[in-house]
Amino acid sequence: APPASSQLSGSLHVASVTLALLASPVQAYLDLFCLSQEKLRQVSGQLKKDMVRGLGKHTHHKAPVKMLPSFVRATPDGTEKGDFLALDLGGTNFRVLHVRVVEDLQKVLKMDSQICAIPKEMMLGTGQQLFDHIAKCLSDFLVSQDLKGQTLPLGFTFSFPCEQKEIDKSILIRWTKGFNCSGVEGEDVVKLLKEAIHRRGDFDIGSVAMVNDTVGTMMSCGYRDQSCEIGMIIGTGTNACYMEEMKNVKRVEGEDGRMCINTEWGGFGDDGSLRGIQTEFDLEVDKTSINPGVHTFEKMISGMYLGEIVRLLLLKLTEDKLLFEGQTSETLRTPESFLTKFISEVEDELSEEGKQPILSQLNLKWNEVDAHVVRLVCDTVSSRSARLCAAALAAIANHMRVSRKLDRLKTTVGVDGTVYRKHPNFSEELQETVRLLAPKCDITFLVSEDGSGKGAAMVTAVAHVCVLMLTFLGWWGHTTGSPPTV
Ligand code: GLC
Repeated sequence: APPASSQLSGSLHVASVTLALLASPVQAYLDLFCLSQEKLRQVSGQLKKDMVRGLGKHTHHKAPVKMLPSFVRATPDGTEKGDFLALDLGGTNFRVLHVRVVEDLQKVLKMDSQICAIPKEMMLGTGQQLFDHIAKCLSDFLVSQDLKGQTLPLGFTFSFPCEQKEIDKSILIRWTKGFNCSGVEGEDVVKLLKEAIHRRGDFDIGSVAMVNDTVGTMMSCGYRDQSCEIGMIIGTGTNACYMEEMKNVKRVEGEDGRMCINTEWGGFGDDGSLRGIQTEFDLEVDKTSINPGVHTFEKMISGMYLGEIVRLLLLKLTEDKLLFEGQTSETLRTPESFLTKFISEVEDELSEEGKQPILSQLNLKWNEVDAHVVRLVCDTVSSRSARLCAAALAAIANHMRVSRKLDRLKTTVGVDGTVYRKHPNFSEELQETVRLLAPKCDITFLVSEDGSGKGAAMVTAVAHVCVLMLTFLGWWGHTTGSPPTV
């Protein structure tokens, strides 16, 4: 370890660099991303209004925040059991799972699973190609598990905005994130899956339950904590669901009880309401995306876009000769070359001042000050993301508190997603900011994964899907034959 005196002079140096930067043109760019508490309150208030529009009988058609009813009316009670298949499409990977719930869900959960890659071309190909691929993965999996002769019920976590008509009828409103397969928007996803399975003709499935990943997260956390009534994802995309009073869900008949609403908050701002806080870099990310003009909020927040925002900002600073002595590199000029995971790595390197292997990987010639600026850029972009999520979550929590006529709301948020889990300061900043913006709400955060590593991730995926499916199946009477639990 270097002697204390050199550590001291090192940190003094960094402090003076920081001071100098604060007054520099670099800071002027960073300021574009810094949102005051007042601004965040406005964002939160606007989302609250848009949520009400999305729930309205006559206003939901044109609402940017879709507020999709999930038809899940209560959290599961943990008594369901049986054998199931599950599919999980919409995050970083596509998974196929076999779940056997033997006893209490929290304790005995036997399963096997397989990850299938979806090549990028397929994400942009035809719907038929995509569903044929899914059916093939399922078939291979069934063979490997010796399950081919059985007709198991299937839970489908499909993490895209869907208008749920029934539990097994779900119309895709639009693709988000990296997907854009033709012939699927406006169609029933369950039907497309079943058709692909029938085209193969080598196996069959039982009843199907469709679910969004936010709902799956809320339900799986609901097993560990009964007061979990919000599910939130901050990963490739971002979104949240929560238990809404039926009397507020004007687009669904009935006044009693609650229903889980998939907000699809990623679409917040699609009517231009966030224009005041979008930077030139956000506009560029949107313009060059495969779905310009949609999912505005998501594009300022989630893992699919954060790295690209950082890259564009670094490029701009370099072109303005504020970084890397004005020398860009071919790699830095290449779209999507700055991966979102680099942000976490850069910000994690606090203790290793000046050591920035990522910059060398991007073929950039950097000095200590450059490394420091890059850290500030990453910090600023990820911090804005965390604070915007906090504003959105505060809108939901405040709304729940007011609709339930409570002085204080005590609730738990089930969370998942790579950005939330992997970024070193994200969760802390989000939680601190929510506390400021929803002071009358006591919010506990529960990550829908107990440990780190693949094994735990897999268990989480299974819990997600299976809990939901079990709940739905309980409703349909397949497993327990008992009265509806949803
Ligand atoms: C996108 C999808 C949404 C999903 C979220 C997180 O925003 O539209 O359905 O929940 O990503 O995966």
